[in-house]
Amino acid sequence: MTSTYETLLTRLQVAFDAVELGADPVLRTSDRGDYQANGVMALAKRLGRAPRDVAVEIVGAAQLDDVADVEIAGPGFLNLTLRSSFLDRQLSSLALDPRLGVTEASSGKRVIIDYSAPNVAKEMHVGHLRSTVIGDALARMYRYAGHEVIARNHVGDWGTNFGMLIEHLLDLGEDRAVATLSIGDLDAFYREARVKFDADDAFKERSRARVVSLQGGDPETLRLWHVLVDESLAYFNEVYTKLDVTLTSSDAVGESYYNDMLEGVVRDLDDAGLLVESEGALCVFPSGFQNREGERLPLIVRKSDDGFGYAASDLAALRDRVTTLHGDELLYVVGAPQVQHLEMVFAVARLAHWLPDAVRCEQVVFGNVLGADHKMFKSRGGETVKLVRLVDEAIERAYVILDERGTDIDGDAKFHLAEQIARAAIKYADLATERQHDYVFDLDRMIAFEGDTGPYLQYAHARLRSIFRRLGEAWQPGNAHFALEAKAERELALGLVGLPEAFNSSLSSLQPHRLCTYLFDVAQRFTSFYDACPVLASEGALREERLALCELTSRTLELGLSVLGIDAPDQM
Ligand code: ARG
Repeated sequence: MTSTYETLLTRLQVAFDAVELGADPVLRTSDRGDYQANGVMALAKRLGRAPRDVAVEIVGAAQLDDVADVEIAGPGFLNLTLRSSFLDRQLSSLALDPRLGVTEASSGKRVIIDYSAPNVAKEMHVGHLRSTVIGDALARMYRYAGHEVIARNHVGDWGTNFGMLIEHLLDLGEDRAVATLSIGDLDAFYREARVKFDADDAFKERSRARVVSLQGGDPETLRLWHVLVDESLAYFNEVYTKLDVTLTSSDAVGESYYNDMLEGVVRDLDDAGLLVESEGALCVFPSGFQNREGERLPLIVRKSDDGFGYAASDLAALRDRVTTLHGDELLYVVGAPQVQHLEMVFAVARLAHWLPDAVRCEQVVFGNVLGADHKMFKSRGGETVKLVRLVDEAIERAYVILDERGTDIDGDAKFHLAEQIARAAIKYADLATERQHDYVFDLDRMIAFEGDTGPYLQYAHARLRSIFRRLGEAWQPGNAHFALEAKAERELALGLVGLPEAFNSSLSSLQPHRLCTYLFDVAQRFTSFYDACPVLASEGALREERLALCELTSRTLELGLSVLGIDAPDQM
């Protein structure tokens, strides 16, 4: 089916083209009329004519009479009010469409999404939470839109730190080290190693020698390194399961994976004449990156100690993603502090001709998570907050809320429901804020059943399901006629036809909050409708119509939440 938005836009486009080729209408939903089309003013300016005259000409040329009433407002806005017959047709098509008008790409792209990326033997922090939640929502949306997603969990599993981490593991004894890591006490482990490294010269020496053995591929050292990596990954996977994130072990392709490619990266950059030796390190100085003194900044490819760093593995990864994986889009869901790093990596990749113009390569930047004091989110002791603890706390809170609300769900089902609510609270709060912005982590607000929250949307869905439960009989969405006589019915209908546009604009802008805003709006429209329009107490055709509206609303919320990675339980 063609969505309401697309139908209107296509017809407007034809009318604009008739007046002047190359002029584009801009369409959006609006309180004045149902939709508003802009673009007349820009066109009038180009033609040197009065906007109103151009507007009249466009309306004259437009085949809009069967879909909308058009009013020319102000200096050439077109306010469109949809005809009920058109809304009836659109809703009837939606009722038959499991995808609710969201189309699937005819030729899907291959999209490589770099997200989550915690570091081995280090606690995952809230920055990793954001990357994980946003990255997973984008992955689900891309898949739903018919694209192939390759997730790349660029785990920090290599580097000079591993010398001290392995030595610390040996000091502790393998069993005890494994025990510490497997309960996820990664920060303690890392801290202890660091303290020894800074205080104890002999330990420092051992650590340095260990790095050399690791880089030289000494089998026993590699075995010990594997212990660290495996224990950490097992712990990360626990967090992913708790959050219901689609990342799997095979998506964990960490920095170490690119080791064998690093020499080739250096060779290629050298052949391209890009490498410069600077203070013993091999660097590329892409133009456009300067410090305050106006000096060009280096992207360090090989350090003065001959070791490769973070930038080198990112260069190798990028090249691999284009040449081996043949990605059409490369996305990096990485926080704001790494903007410059990634911009430099992208710039160098372009200079080296690894990144064709046709490949979209973008950082999906996000802001910080703040504590109640609006400073960086830290635990009371000043340490990073453990992610699992946050999720567990949310689950406990959800459990208590269910009790307070007097739920009749019990046992395992109750625990499962508490998990679903907790995840919704955490994920939705993250996704619903414009991702570049910071947000305050306030569990009470996030988990409330009122307001712009995940649980509110889940609850709206559960209320809808309860209507059908109370109905008792198996209700089939038949051929309801959508007369939409009550204002609240029409408002809800206008919300329901908007999913495809909300989904598409959310995905093309990589802004999940747009879909969140849409879903919240639909839930509010449903609440107004439900207050004003009795459903089960109505009769005949009206009851069928209202049930059909409820069914569409329920499916809209469920689909919208599911592509964001949020469950929509039937009962709460
Ligand atoms: N491990 C890094 C960190 O914790 C994030 C990696 C992001 N991805 C990348 N390709 N650089 O900061």
